[in-house]
Amino acid sequence: MRLVLLYLCIICHGMATVDGARTNVSGGKPKSSGTFNVKEYGARGNGRSDDTKAFLAAWDAACKSSGQVKILIPSGTYFLNPIEFNGPCRDVQSLKFQMQGTLRATTDLRKYGNGKGWVEFRHVDGLTVTGGGTFDGQGAVSWPFNKCPKDKNCKVLPTSVKFVNTKDTVVRGITSLNSKFFHMALLGCHNFKGSGITISAPGTSPNTDGIHLEGSTGVTISGSKVATGDDCISIGQGNSLVTISGITCGPGHGISVGSLGRYNDEEDVKNVIVKDSTFQGTTNGVRIKTWANSPAITKVQNMTFDNLVMKNVDYPIVIDQTYCPFAKCDNSRASRVKLSDIHFKNIRGTTKRPEAVILRCSKGTPCQKLSLHNINLKNIGFGGTLSTCLNAKAEYSGNIFPPPCQ
Ligand SMILES: *[C@@H]1O[C@H](CO)[C@@H](O)[C@H](O)[C@H]1NC(C)=O
Ligand SMILES: *[C@@H]1O[C@H](CO)[C@@H](O)[C@H](O)[C@H]1NC(C)=O
Repeated sequence: MRLVLLYLCIICHGMATVDGARTNVSGGKPKSSGTFNVKEYGARGNGRSDDTKAFLAAWDAACKSSGQVKILIPSGTYFLNPIEFNGPCRDVQSLKFQMQGTLRATTDLRKYGNGKGWVEFRHVDGLTVTGGGTFDGQGAVSWPFNKCPKDKNCKVLPTSVKFVNTKDTVVRGITSLNSKFFHMALLGCHNFKGSGITISAPGTSPNTDGIHLEGSTGVTISGSKVATGDDCISIGQGNSLVTISGITCGPGHGISVGSLGRYNDEEDVKNVIVKDSTFQGTTNGVRIKTWANSPAITKVQNMTFDNLVMKNVDYPIVIDQTYCPFAKCDNSRASRVKLSDIHFKNIRGTTKRPEAVILRCSKGTPCQKLSLHNINLKNIGFGGTLSTCLNAKAEYSGNIFPPPCQ
């Protein structure tokens, strides 16, 4: 009986081999759980042959099946062109992308669609990406072509791993190496849990943000290590209910909210907690950055930065509402991004520069309900330790060093 059903299933999916797939008819509804091994779909895993088609075929078969499904990527190095893993996978309850091997990106930039990433998971629910494997973006070859640090009309290089409109996603125990642009981006995701993620690129690599979030709700990122050339984690527009904890960041530009206020279709950012994390040799610790001249009126609301250790950081606590990554920006109008309910507490350690606390709020919409509690930061370089403020009236409690602005 089972054999017959297995046959039927194979025929209906048009696939020759489904490794270990089991079908179970109960209550009239077919249920199956199966493992779809990319090698059985033709992947070579030799680091040279193009395995893109095989990965797509395995995804397709898994996505069309039902129940609890696993895509297995055995150890080996799989050379991949840009690839989209699209859902919805209607009858799939959970889909585990078990990567034991390394996925290696093509370095041919002509292959990448405009604004497209390298590996994209789109419109999938119940996806788990795990298995100890590595996304190797092979970015070093393309970093010299990245003009974004200097030119605001630059062409953006591909992000290594993108999650677009996914729901109930888990990313656990994987590595991202040398992305061309961002390592990982979440766009419009709902309920995302990341843990045990290792992100690695040189401190000098341009725009290699570790994890960038946009338009997402219910995001938890914990117990992860990010060493890269830009923000370790950047929380962009439209995010809510974000908890970041247990991050080791460095080298990198710290953990940021923003940058915000550059485009006119941006949404508010609210309900963010960054806690229990360590920053080592980063340029910033925690930072909120908004552009001046912002076209839209948006809010940054309810943020807590708690229990953070700074080791040899340039600027551990930063609010910058005249953010300008270029040599010059149009600052003729004050930022219209409105900050309120922003709390920094239990932040301690060492800095490399005097300005340990920078609270530079907008002249147009000064920060509201800003507080600092138990801050102990000491400059181990020259020039002492100090706070600088602009349009910021903060409340202080506990032990505060450097002393508040006058
Ligand atoms: C079939 O599914 C039912 C209910 O989901 C389960 O109890 C049973 O163990 C399954 N049988 C097999 C052979 O997988
Ligand atoms: C503030 O944000 C935290 C973290 O997401 C959330 O738990 C809390 O409910 C928020 N508070 C308010 C008043 O919305």
